[in-house]
Amino acid sequence: MIKRIVVHGFGVVVLGLTLGFFVANYVVAGAHDRAENSTVSFVEDVSSAELSIVQTQNKSVEKPAEQVFKNIQSLKGLPASQLYATMNFMKASLGVKCDYCHVRTADGKWNWESDDKPAKQVTRRMIQLTVESNKIAFGGRTQVSCYTCHRGNTDPINLPPISLAAEDQKPNAATAKNVANATAKPSAVDELPTVDVILNRHAEATGGKRAVENFKTQFVKGTLSAHQLPSSPPEISPLEIYMAAPNKMLASITTPKGTLLQGYNGATGWMGNGKEARELSGASLVRLKRRADFYADWKLREQFARLRVAGKERINDHEAYVLTGRTVDSRLERLYFDTQTGLLLRRVAYTETIIGMIPEAMDFEDYREVDGVKIPFIRRSAQLDGFEASTLKFMEVKFNVPINDTKFNLPAAQK
Ligand code: HEC
Ligand code: HEC
Repeated sequence: MIKRIVVHGFGVVVLGLTLGFFVANYVVAGAHDRAENSTVSFVEDVSSAELSIVQTQNKSVEKPAEQVFKNIQSLKGLPASQLYATMNFMKASLGVKCDYCHVRTADGKWNWESDDKPAKQVTRRMIQLTVESNKIAFGGRTQVSCYTCHRGNTDPINLPPISLAAEDQKPNAATAKNVANATAKPSAVDELPTVDVILNRHAEATGGKRAVENFKTQFVKGTLSAHQLPSSPPEISPLEIYMAAPNKMLASITTPKGTLLQGYNGATGWMGNGKEARELSGASLVRLKRRADFYADWKLREQFARLRVAGKERINDHEAYVLTGRTVDSRLERLYFDTQTGLLLRRVAYTETIIGMIPEAMDFEDYREVDGVKIPFIRRSAQLDGFEASTLKFMEVKFNVPINDTKFNLPAAQK
């Protein structure tokens, strides 16, 4: 049987994995009827309703976009797996949908490679503008992105707002003095705790030390709810996760269409559907490894090469200290710690592409105590534009249950 492997959409979908749970390393075939404003809808031409395992990356080195797609002129050298994230980023920066730049054929199928829309051609110049600006002014770091100018609009405003009232409201001596006093006070930043204080509080609040010393395996039962479209109701699927220290994992999710598995045995990462399984490589393997890190929630410090205190922000109903830094594998991240409880509320990771930094966030809620350790029972992940938002809910968490090590291996008969 010939299975058309779904390629499109994977890059973006997989991006959700950086922090997300495995949600999306697959695309459900037959999804082509999903509405056009979802990136998931690129799953074109898939006739079978069964699950197809998806893989865009080749075995070892990742291909550049121009080798995978048909008509790449400006984004040459971009890793192919970043193409959809980049498209999604442009879409969100301009506040448009894919069809602002792309056309469909008469039978309604997307023709991504076509240059028929003028906006697509303008965009090529814009990509060049963005890349060049960063080169000239910022040593190639992506400080300027589409969003810097566009702010969710197609037409950027090139004039600062003029307020006629402003002339009448020049600060008088009294207010000027107040302002001076205010700035004389130690600034908010001076009052922030240090990185060490924040991390130590987190370790204490979670019982991280206890976890690291005592826990060797973990079993989780829960559900995963994922929106295929920001507007559609979530699909809720039962989920089981087996983990063993320091870095083994098997996750199994039961969808109406079948079971999806994802495993890492400390060396080999794979995904499967119960009938067949494939080894993962490239960016998806890196993500899976991160996810398989048994002590990831507790050993935060070890994950970072650099960390600094960036300030205080409000997240939902909580006040949070914000740390920013680079992980040991050089990813930019922001961590938000509850000023009251010391617990981690949010983690945002940024993927640097040539046209901008693409964020993905994970929120941690509903911390509960299990065997003397606090665990977030709800993990919500979100990306730009609500795309691929998903929620992982734990119902049951058990530590140190016996788990046979072979469970994590790529199923041999199914290679
Ligand atoms: C603001 C304009 C714009 C938007 C919005 C946009 N794209 Fe693109 N897209 C482009 C441009 C420009 C290229 C070609 C890039 C190049 O030449 O390197 C492209 C190329 C592509 C390609 C490669 C086609 C090929 O085979 O050469 C795909 C696939 C694609 N876009 C998908 C999408 C999807 C999906 C969305 C919606 C999430 C989207 N695009 C939104 C401008 C856009
Ligand atoms: C330095 C600021 C700046 C950056 C960065 C920038 N743009 Fe623009 N862009 C503009 C301005 C200004 C216009 C309007 C030009 C005009 O009105 O003729 C524009 C126009 C456009 C248009 C045409 C809109 C229309 O009316 O159809 C598109 C599409 C576009 N930009 C896409 C992008 C994309 C995608 C990126 C990132 C890769 C980007 N721009 C980055 C300033 C910017």
